[in-house]
Amino acid sequence: MKTRNIIIIFLALVSSVTTLALLQASSPQRKHVIKKQAFGTVPEGPVDFYIMTNSRGMDVRAMNYGGIIVSLRVPDKKGVLADVVLGFDALDGYLNNKPYFGAIIGRYANRIANGKFTLNGVECRLARNHGMNSLHGGLRGFDKVLWHCEQFENNQGISVVFTYTSKDGEEGYPGNLKTKVTYTLMEQNELQIEYEATTDKVTSVNLTNHSYFNLKGEGNGDILKHELMLNADRFTPVDSTLIPTGELRSVAGTPIDFNKPTAIGARIDANNEQLAIAHGYDHNFVLDRKGTGLELAGRVDEPQSGRVLEVYTTEPGVQLYTGNFLDGTITGKHGHVYNKHAAFCLETQHFPDSPNHPNFPSTILKPGQTYHSRTVYKFSTE
Ligand code: GLA
Repeated sequence: MKTRNIIIIFLALVSSVTTLALLQASSPQRKHVIKKQAFGTVPEGPVDFYIMTNSRGMDVRAMNYGGIIVSLRVPDKKGVLADVVLGFDALDGYLNNKPYFGAIIGRYANRIANGKFTLNGVECRLARNHGMNSLHGGLRGFDKVLWHCEQFENNQGISVVFTYTSKDGEEGYPGNLKTKVTYTLMEQNELQIEYEATTDKVTSVNLTNHSYFNLKGEGNGDILKHELMLNADRFTPVDSTLIPTGELRSVAGTPIDFNKPTAIGARIDANNEQLAIAHGYDHNFVLDRKGTGLELAGRVDEPQSGRVLEVYTTEPGVQLYTGNFLDGTITGKHGHVYNKHAAFCLETQHFPDSPNHPNFPSTILKPGQTYHSRTVYKFSTE
């Protein structure tokens, strides 16, 4: 009896060890990793950044302060990695991050005219932090708060999940807004950003990420020779304070038409009222959409390095901003001075000032509904 039991246990052990070995042999080698590192502290708590690396060597660093993408390194056509986003070496720089480098923007991306709008007959008053207008969520928007962070891994890639509950009345916006932003680094050199939010009072939400890209590498001159294609036949022209007039205007025959790939700088100084107002491009493009899923919004190609960025989104608009307010007064990473046009932004979004324009796609979120949007930044070379 005893010997038989020993044999049975032995056979069972042999078979489970074999199963384990087979499982290991059949599962793909996992080379992607997430590491966490301390970056400093703010009054609300410790600031950490999370480094996500995929098996191709692309890495993304994002921190819990502002959900800021601190660095994003992608290969060029020879396989050489460069950090393609503007930013700072230390936390201090980010605490005074006037251009919003890499940050999550909320509750409302871009501007709201005169810092006010009316919902259900109730007027909401916001801080006027850009002339008369409210910009990027107000005085202390989502770019300046400490987010809770968790990390996880699934078969798509590796993710960091940032959550933050914005209290009812914060920055003048109604409702307790539970917000979740997930950054996923995929094996195909794609960074996916997924935004979700729920509220307990009717409110307005428009979330984006404000990364400043230079595909030659941050600090490596301007982006004027980057070739840009935008999948948009129309844009929302602005008044002298960069508030949309409400019109959806055709880009045809103007320097604002990027339907065919064109160098960003080719027409940036053209005699055009809209370019003059913004000192370059700072406009919301109305994307030509077929449905509600992820669709290509734009493509940027940097001829020297061969790096290509494609932006896919579920959003109806994208803000093309060519770093017009950068003026050489900011010293960023590695002592690099960021001059005008040192980067471009493609901020996927609902249109600016939508709460004051009933003809724009709605940004209203009601209790019981879930705000959901998704953007993918896909990097490749050619
Ligand atoms: C957005 C705006 C710009 C500017 C930048 C931040 O892109 O449209 O006008 O405010 O953010 O400097």
